[in-house]
Amino acid sequence: MSLDEYPDDPFYQGRNMLFREASLDAAIPVLGEALKKHRYSETVLLPVGRSFFLFPFQDIINLWNLRQGKIPILLQKSAFPSLYYSRFARRNRPAYILFRLFYLGETLTPEELAEVLDKDQIALLMKANLLVQPEDNSVASLIKITPWKDYCFISGVENRTPGEFVFIGSDSLILAYHLLLVLQGRTFSSGLDLCTGSGIQSIMISRFCEQVTCVDINPNSGFYVRANTLLNKDHGTEKITYRTSNFFDNAGGPFDLIVTNPPYVCMPPEKKDAWRCGYGGENWGTEFPLKILSDARRRLTPGGMLKMITISPTVAGKDILVEETRKLLGQEAWSVEFQEVATHCIQESLYEFHKENRISHCTFFIITLQRSDSFRFTYKKVPTLADLLARIRNMQYEAYHALTFRK
Ligand SMILES: C[S@@+](CC[C@H](N)C(=O)[O-])C[C@H]1O[C@@H](n2cnc3c(N)ncnc32)[C@H](O)[C@@H]1O
Repeated sequence: MSLDEYPDDPFYQGRNMLFREASLDAAIPVLGEALKKHRYSETVLLPVGRSFFLFPFQDIINLWNLRQGKIPILLQKSAFPSLYYSRFARRNRPAYILFRLFYLGETLTPEELAEVLDKDQIALLMKANLLVQPEDNSVASLIKITPWKDYCFISGVENRTPGEFVFIGSDSLILAYHLLLVLQGRTFSSGLDLCTGSGIQSIMISRFCEQVTCVDINPNSGFYVRANTLLNKDHGTEKITYRTSNFFDNAGGPFDLIVTNPPYVCMPPEKKDAWRCGYGGENWGTEFPLKILSDARRRLTPGGMLKMITISPTVAGKDILVEETRKLLGQEAWSVEFQEVATHCIQESLYEFHKENRISHCTFFIITLQRSDSFRFTYKKVPTLADLLARIRNMQYEAYHALTFRK
């Protein structure tokens, strides 16, 4: 892929990737060694971000998880993240230093950096522009590294590379986990990861597919896919090919397996430029997920399967995506499954917008689409306890909001 091949979208024009491509091949294995040596994967036990509205509900769960050391709580919020960090630093200081650099986006002093990387390693990472020196006495990272199971995923650092941002969020990990679980024991000859971003879902399906294609409209995504396939090369990632494409336009196919975590967030259109990888389009953010369901009908082989993670808003008591999907596919021979992943979700930053638009909450789904002899629609609910906890969180938020932001 060449950097001249920008799609027409003006948002992506004229942006220069910060990685030095030629140096990535040497730098990534060195980075991988350092992450392994210092057991970076253990940082998955740390919550990130501060939020008081979930206190004490979320922190009881988080603290229990930190003690057990089993369930990842990375990407969860806490009222007092620093408490977790200081406890963790006593256990594994090098991993904590790497976490500050590669996850929290903090700058390190050269002395701190020297605790985790030697001179040659630092020189290689600087040459590839993965590390930079904003000032004489500080070192910063131009990438973010998310540990998960025995993988590590590189994505963008939001505040340093606006516009080039390539994202990994909890939805990325939820879909990745689902794919590992449900595809176990199956094989596919061709797989597509649509809207690939960092390439995380391609890496997940590469163990089940003979060939994997991944596409994204953001040409910079190609560099992240390259970096991530190198970093996770023990997982059979050499079969992954990247292409720049507006949805299916340049994807090829048909495919036996299509996986996608597309933009789906229901937000005001004026916010889309700032949050391009999230904006789900018109119709309360369901435009792009619906377009994918519609186009996938011509891109799946007869026995093929699509898996999509997405959100659907409930507006005036109606689940928009469920209704629209029934309208789209209801007369055709498809089997569609909506599996709830999380219910009654409220996004803090979009609360006012959602209220104005009569959106009571959103539901996270993993949708499965397959050919069938007639239209079959299945709706799988989350366990009652999980639903109840989500409702309590929701009520807690509503109360917190009423107290804090009351006009
Ligand atoms: C929510 S991110 C998901 C990234 C990745 N699949 C994951 O699971 O972490 C959505 C991705 O869709 C990409 N995207 C947005 N509009 C697109 C389009 N029209 N065609 C292809 N990709 C698009 C964005 O650049 C972004 O990387």
